Amino acid sequence: MYNYQIHQNIKAYVKEFQLDITDLDNYFYTSFIANVSAIQNLYNQLYGQHQHADAHFNDLLKTITKAYTNRSVALKQKDASKGARGNWFLSNEITGMSLYVDRFAGSLQNMNDKLDYLKDLGVNLLHLMPLFKSPEGESDGGYAVSNFREVDERFGTLKDLQTLQKNMQKQDFYLMLDIVLNHTSHRHEWAEKAKAGDKYYQDFFYMFDDRYWPDEFDKTMPEVFPESSPGSFSYVPEINKWVMTVFHSYQWDLNYTNPAVFLAMLDTIFFYANLGVDILRIDAPAFIWKQLGTTCQNLPQAHTLLRLIKQCVQIATPGMALLGEAIVAPKAIMEYFGKDEFTARECDFAYNATHMALQWDALATGDTRVMLAAQHEILQKPFGTSWITYTRCHDDIGLGYDDYMIQQAGFNAYSHRMFLKNYYSGNHPYSKATGALFAFNPKTQDARLSGSLASLCGLERAIKSNNKKDIKESINKVIMMQAHSIFLGGVPMLFYGDEVGYTNDYSYLQDEAKAYDNRWMHRPVIDWKKNEKVKDSTSIEGQIFSATKHLISIRKSLNAIADYSNLQWITPHNIHIAAYIRNQGDKRIFCVFNFSNRDAYLTWFAFKEKGNPPSKLYDHFSKKEFKIGNDNEYLIVPAYGFFIMEAL
Ligand code: GLC
Repeated sequence: MYNYQIHQNIKAYVKEFQLDITDLDNYFYTSFIANVSAIQNLYNQLYGQHQHADAHFNDLLKTITKAYTNRSVALKQKDASKGARGNWFLSNEITGMSLYVDRFAGSLQNMNDKLDYLKDLGVNLLHLMPLFKSPEGESDGGYAVSNFREVDERFGTLKDLQTLQKNMQKQDFYLMLDIVLNHTSHRHEWAEKAKAGDKYYQDFFYMFDDRYWPDEFDKTMPEVFPESSPGSFSYVPEINKWVMTVFHSYQWDLNYTNPAVFLAMLDTIFFYANLGVDILRIDAPAFIWKQLGTTCQNLPQAHTLLRLIKQCVQIATPGMALLGEAIVAPKAIMEYFGKDEFTARECDFAYNATHMALQWDALATGDTRVMLAAQHEILQKPFGTSWITYTRCHDDIGLGYDDYMIQQAGFNAYSHRMFLKNYYSGNHPYSKATGALFAFNPKTQDARLSGSLASLCGLERAIKSNNKKDIKESINKVIMMQAHSIFLGGVPMLFYGDEVGYTNDYSYLQDEAKAYDNRWMHRPVIDWKKNEKVKDSTSIEGQIFSATKHLISIRKSLNAIADYSNLQWITPHNIHIAAYIRNQGDKRIFCVFNFSNRDAYLTWFAFKEKGNPPSKLYDHFSKKEFKIGNDNEYLIVPAYGFFIMEAL
């Protein structure tokens, strides 16, 4: 809809920032004009009734224009080249790693020297875990931010980050950073001002004079950290008020019903975009809108807010993709890709948290039926969006898939989950895993799981007991788990340390600021002497590193692995096997995985089921060829083994 006044305002800002709309800045200007009605519409759904709605809307138009103006020529060129490639992030040539700069390299400056190591592995996207100022001892691994624009001195300076980004860009690395949208540290300037009694900043948070409303909210809000931070509110003695703190008591939830909060955070998003961020990880988006009487998670307004952010980013800094870190039920995750006219116009990425947890399910039971029962949901992801696929990250593993998926496989959901929790916390007689329950809630018996990839796969115990056979078996598990997620579709995101099999690190227990949070057991401090061992192909580190590297290079060589929504599951006729086909044109890649501790037989019929039966298959991992036919009735998949087979 043409709105004369809005267009006049845009024209005025464009003039104020001296943009050349007849030439260089024409694309920005026309896409702004073309999309401003959609922006206004989304904005009005959230803020239309606010007393200062119009003034803030004008500020929004100005913020967008300013963000574009501040974007460097180099980033504008990168935007254009990404745009020309179309959906650049679906590519099979991107593989990421998530890491803590201080624990991986010591500092941002030192990171520059580690790029060769990462390149050798094949990683070309770095998720640098939160770098911005965060109070020591109350930081939640950097997710309690006290200044969104100042790099914490334990990592270095903003200048160091900018130097690293330039260096990364020269070497074709992509950069991913977090925006912690849902909350600030209680030490953030806004919170400090609120504590000093400033009403303007008190309105940036959810604050109440007594327990009446907090109690009402608590009736329906699930607890995120029931052990360390029960409830969703904390008392603020300085002002004798209660503030909403869904996560830790030192993380104050921002109040997005206030458009000033939205504008301030949008400006921060643009600040990160203009630092050269390629993928912005929006932390905890499920929580950004609260409404009494609800769980305050995944509310429709949270989606409206994300769509609004997407529209603004698309205009001013279009090369930056958005990843919504929504670790919620399978159906709810899907909504973060957008619906109806906003399909594929909300978050570009979400974590495939459902599948990640299902891999751990299958590994414990040796049975892939629950995993397969969930796929019809996961496959709903719209074209043009993608997953971050992973086996481990800095967080816990939540068994958040639906009960009906478990029931479909013939299990009782409650006892099945209980088994998994016992299995991975090492409380099951048959388990070789070493992990721990995280966020156990005695009221609901819910719990999530902590532990590193290697320890959960049994390596810690095997090394302790010096059991060669178990060491080999756990290495195979690690590699099979990684392979399964690397070829699944989406950008694989390794977690640092897993490429060399770091086991749990219990030193966090000696640190008061970490001891209450056992997620620190799987956030190692890298010992570069250990990582040097990757050069020895017989060492544990060498075996895991070279296999991971091989997997990444296979992925890069096969265009069919790009996320073209081109994945079909094969009926395995064997409960231990999970197998999928990735195809592109007439290229077909059969990916076959055995989640059990014995050889598994897969009938060759499985390869013919989807038509055009191949006569020969080439396994890219072992570099072996397999014949199919009457004399070769079964494919034998070794215990915790796999094949990445191309139909010849
Ligand atoms: C996200 C982060 C997690 C953090 C939480 C609160 O889920 O991944 O580490 O504790 O948000 O910011």
